[in-house]
Amino acid sequence: MRTDRFVSETELIKQRAIASDLALEIRPRGLRFFVETFGCQMNVRDSETVKGWLAEIGYTEAENKESADFILFNTCCVRDHAEKRLMGNIGALKDRKDADPGVIIGICGCMMQQEGMAKKLLKRFPHVSMIFGTNVLYRFPEMLRDVLNGERIAVTDRADDAIAEGLPKLRDNQRSAFVNIMYGCDNYCSYCIVPYVRGHERSRKPEDIRSEMVALAENGITEITLLGQNVNSYGNDGSTGMHFAQLLRYVSDVPGLKRIRFMSSHPKDLNEDVMQAIASLPNVCHHVHLPVQSGNDEILRRMNRKYTREHYCSIISRLRELVPDIEFTTDIIVGFPGETDEAFRDTMSLVEEIGYAAAFTFAYSPRQGTVAARMEDQVPESVKKERLKALNELQTRKTVENNEKYIGHTGEVLVEGFDERGEETMLYGKYQNFKMVYFPGCRELLNRYVTVKVTQSNKNSLLGEMIDA
Ligand code: SAH
Ligand code: SF4
Ligand code: F3S
Repeated sequence: MRTDRFVSETELIKQRAIASDLALEIRPRGLRFFVETFGCQMNVRDSETVKGWLAEIGYTEAENKESADFILFNTCCVRDHAEKRLMGNIGALKDRKDADPGVIIGICGCMMQQEGMAKKLLKRFPHVSMIFGTNVLYRFPEMLRDVLNGERIAVTDRADDAIAEGLPKLRDNQRSAFVNIMYGCDNYCSYCIVPYVRGHERSRKPEDIRSEMVALAENGITEITLLGQNVNSYGNDGSTGMHFAQLLRYVSDVPGLKRIRFMSSHPKDLNEDVMQAIASLPNVCHHVHLPVQSGNDEILRRMNRKYTREHYCSIISRLRELVPDIEFTTDIIVGFPGETDEAFRDTMSLVEEIGYAAAFTFAYSPRQGTVAARMEDQVPESVKKERLKALNELQTRKTVENNEKYIGHTGEVLVEGFDERGEETMLYGKYQNFKMVYFPGCRELLNRYVTVKVTQSNKNSLLGEMIDA
């Protein structure tokens, strides 16, 4: 096995030493940080690592940007509106920096890995002093030390994609946690920028994943979501000695763990073995987020998705056969280059046919450097908008239909939050198959499992009553 798959232990010891040196200076000053995260769960997870470092360096978390001495934006670039929004956010901090030159403003995440972006931002915003990409989180103490010494840095090393184990993490949720099983993506769907900004697909070792899960469970976490851009290709490079179904079996008996979720699944790699694991392992949840993107074979081919509508539907029906209460959610893109009215109707008919519990729908957004951005037959924005509206209307109707079948359903719910604005406290949480339900209760039940019976289905949500706490 290649050893450079991993960041060396000596490197990590060095970073930890820098962190504890910095802490001697930072901690007595009572400095505070604020990290704002955009994008997907990968970024949420990365922010936990940066916050972990900041805590180790002696910062505490601030309630808001205004009261923070270190402000960081963790960015996403999967669609185009993100950039404008970031520029606005950064621009708004100029006065703050003028008034308080000691404040450090940083930007990290996927957008920083885009060609030329880091340099452009450093030039345009003199009040930004720290920029770093997705693959260098393990070097955070060293980077911050340079910034504290007055340097302005941009570290976006594309080739540096070794896995770093044992980094600090600051997780604020007492109930659920994300655990990476892999990083990067090799699929190169023609519309997608992720492989360019997140690097090659690489899988963590099963032992490292399991021991992280054991530690989380020991700290009271009962629900874990395994993360990867395509979890079904876990271990496909032969480096881990295990495929995804084997990994699920290997981690499913972690003591104290009640729910295992995973995302995202790519239809091309979701095989019978994974389906059997979902069906047979008691704590693997009966929910699959299975992005379809389009219901038309020609569009799927041009998207480089490597499956057909027929194959996709066969996975859905096989899973429904094995796991009758399973729910599916999906991602769909409308207005991909070359999408005709007819091709779009295929997406509509697929959504009608499958009956997703929920769908995340997007207008195609050209990303520089991707194959689809160079395709000729781009669809006008007005058409994308119309299609998105029609698709969302259809999905809303399907969600209502899906909800109706839950009336009378009873099952265990993990309480995720509460709303105390009305006369009685309303709790909300999910059944193991991802369906959310609202019900009256008291806030002390937060993070606990209770049995709830569905009594009513509203347009967007289920209402129920507690049978047993
Ligand atoms: N790895 C995950 C998806 C990550 S991106 C997977 O393959 O399932 C999340 C979603 O954003 C994608 O599923 C896709 O629907 C959407 N998306 C990605 N690139 C896009 C683009 N250029 N325009 C519009 N939507 C896009
Ligand atoms: Fe993007 Fe496709 Fe990779 Fe998902 S599988 S991150 S859509 S390239
Ligand atoms: Fe996620 Fe956005 Fe990066 S979707 S992987 S944060 S580009």
